[in-house]
Amino acid sequence: MSKRIVIGNWKENPTSKKEAEKIFKQISKGKWKGVEVVACPPSIYIEALRKISKRIILGAQNIFYENSGAFTGKIGGSMLYELGARYTIIGHSERRSLGENNNDINKKIKNAVYNGLVPILCVGENFRDNEHKYLAFIKEQVESALEGVSKTTLDKIIIAYEPVWAIGSSATREATPSEFLEISIFLKRILSDKFGIKSVGGVRILYGGSVHPENSLGFLIEGKADGFLVGRDSLNPKKFLEIINNTENAKY
Ligand code: PGA
Repeated sequence: MSKRIVIGNWKENPTSKKEAEKIFKQISKGKWKGVEVVACPPSIYIEALRKISKRIILGAQNIFYENSGAFTGKIGGSMLYELGARYTIIGHSERRSLGENNNDINKKIKNAVYNGLVPILCVGENFRDNEHKYLAFIKEQVESALEGVSKTTLDKIIIAYEPVWAIGSSATREATPSEFLEISIFLKRILSDKFGIKSVGGVRILYGGSVHPENSLGFLIEGKADGFLVGRDSLNPKKFLEIINNTENAKY
């Protein structure tokens, strides 16, 4: 099994390169060894940040699915790889809410893999209904995102379960470790049905949505998470380092 991983999604923050460098430098002073740490800043900061520390791997928050051409405003996976990114978030709910669909996400996953970027596929329901229709919703997100992806590349893909209702400062409530565990088992079942049981072991399944130092241990120990996709607390070096420390040391 690969190492646990903690990924910071900085979203459209901070507002200056200077501030980005300051945050990155502070995080890079952390003492982790047995865990992978990734920061996904706004792409324009990647080049400057990679010069500061090699211990934190850089990632993009999004890519376009074509490497070049008449696509105004788009940046493809090959350009981001050249800039220094090695991971990319794909299908974050904030991008889906801007109109990105499952078909776009499938093309982005393929572009990422082709260009040597590890895709972090985000899935998660907007709300939970009593008839459990949200399970079919998640299943469709996973199956369509991975359509045409070969079994052999599956272990290069990370899945982050991020229930939309638990993300950001407008979250209605926090998810529980047992809710995460249930979905993580469900995701493994979907992968096993699609790719065969042997292909599932290498896929890391992360939790994301209001992750803090305080709730992180529960997701690791009880929820058996392989790591986290962290939003707000990834911009706070002290809290982010505590999450990293918990991720490295939690035992179950
Ligand atoms: P949050 O964001 O940790 O601020 O809830 C998580 C995410 O959107 O990936």
